[in-house]
Amino acid sequence: MMKVREKVLHALIESDKFISGQQLSSELGVSRTSVWKAIKKLKEDGFNIESVNNKGYKMIKNPDGLVESLLIHDLTKRGFELVRLFDTIDSTNLEAKRQADSFGGKGLFISKEQTHGKGRRGRTWESPKASGNYMSYLLRPEIEPKDASMLTLLAGLAVCNAMIDLYEINVRIKWPNDIVINGKKLCGILTELSSEIDYVNYVIVGIGINVFQKQFPKEIEKIGTSLALEVDETKFKVTKHELILKITDYMNVYLLKFDQYKDLSFIKEEYEKQCVNVSGELRIESNKASYVGVGRGITSRGQLLVENSQGQVSEVNSGEVSVRGIYGYV
Ligand code: BTN
Repeated sequence: MMKVREKVLHALIESDKFISGQQLSSELGVSRTSVWKAIKKLKEDGFNIESVNNKGYKMIKNPDGLVESLLIHDLTKRGFELVRLFDTIDSTNLEAKRQADSFGGKGLFISKEQTHGKGRRGRTWESPKASGNYMSYLLRPEIEPKDASMLTLLAGLAVCNAMIDLYEINVRIKWPNDIVINGKKLCGILTELSSEIDYVNYVIVGIGINVFQKQFPKEIEKIGTSLALEVDETKFKVTKHELILKITDYMNVYLLKFDQYKDLSFIKEEYEKQCVNVSGELRIESNKASYVGVGRGITSRGQLLVENSQGQVSEVNSGEVSVRGIYGYV
């Protein structure tokens, strides 16, 4: 049974307007005194609730809808012991790394802006204020270092499924870890590892999602898109808070399974269904070779299976190559 405090909290989160004590009391089926006590407790716990005579109560949210106390509240319940929201930071991956040495548990670091957002292969990830969702999970899986790259695929599927559930959009995965829609990139994932030869200290899974951008710089306008441009806003309201929770719920389910299986066999089929380059022609570009092949699925360890023109199938590792579709971005 949900406590009065939680019921009041949810009612306030869901409303953009003031709600009177009377309304809360009748909608939630509790006394006015319990509502008043719950509000007092929530304020003591750090929730920023405005009270105005004759109007009632309203939760103060910042423009992109993220409130640190709310995130802490909802993510602690989901097993993340250290949760932080920053107005600005160099990179949430870097912050996760800084925290990892002094704090031994699982964490989630979110920022409204990054001044040195990191992309894969040393690239930068443009992270302007109020447009994207930038977050990094600090995870402590009991795996061997060679298995860590599988977490990227797992996170990709979590993001993909969260977006399908919330907004019914046709998002797909570009192996190993981009989320794309109609040939344009919506999200990128950067997984970083701290390990000894045979022991993982921690893994950081950094996720960058284009959320509110309505326009992109010229260089990336043909290859980048955002939820604001893709989601039917007459049907769905995009909020970063809800998106973060949904992704985290999928992450938790998959991480639990991953801990049992130690590979991706439990999501292989689903991943292949969502992945744009497990079938059809693609180009492999590594420093060893560059060739055109045909995607034939993934292995249970997350490698891409590629058949060359002689009919030989090889396993391609994500770290070694970049895969380009023959036509366009995907
Ligand atoms: C890519 O190149 O596609 C990966 C981009 C990953 C960006 C995210 S944003 C949150 C986290 N912090 C970073 O500095 N990078 C990742």
